[in-house]
Amino acid sequence: MNYTFAMIKPDAIKNNNMGEIIHRIEMAGFCIVCMEMRRFTQHTAEEFYAAHKGKDYFENLIRFTISGPVVGMVLHSYDPDASTDTIDRFRTLIGNTYPNKAAVGTLRAEFGKGVPNNAIHGSDSFENYLKEVKIFFKDKEN
Ligand code: GTP
Ligand code: MG
Repeated sequence: MNYTFAMIKPDAIKNNNMGEIIHRIEMAGFCIVCMEMRRFTQHTAEEFYAAHKGKDYFENLIRFTISGPVVGMVLHSYDPDASTDTIDRFRTLIGNTYPNKAAVGTLRAEFGKGVPNNAIHGSDSFENYLKEVKIFFKDKEN
């Protein structure tokens, strides 16, 4: 699979890190094929993070996700020599969910502050990539 879905989270946009994050994504070899800034409603944020419903951190995660605009992107990359696909390569670029556990040089290590404010999202499977693109761009015809 040569595509993934990425989303710059509200904390990174508020901290003026959006431009730098986009630059770093491009420098790492990912091509932005579609991008939009939007603000989630409570309903859409709950849909996006439906797998976490019932967890003790869910309410806080949703409150954070709707606290400001987010930027969603479909990314493409193709490396015939790589053993991993775009989804996995992008997850490596963003780093661990917890910025203090993320490897040096990853986006979360540099721009994340904690959870839920870990700066950037990347799909974790092809199935979730499809779900997330559908939710994020649901009102679009193209
Ligand atoms: P996303 O890109 O946001 O999907 O993060 P992820 O794929 O690295 O992690 P995951 O999908 O498991 O969790 C989604 C979000 O829920 C994370 O980004 C965290 O903000 C939050 N989260 C997940 N697990 C925990 C947890 O155990 N405690 C807390 N406080 N937050 C959590
Ligand atoms: Mg996730």
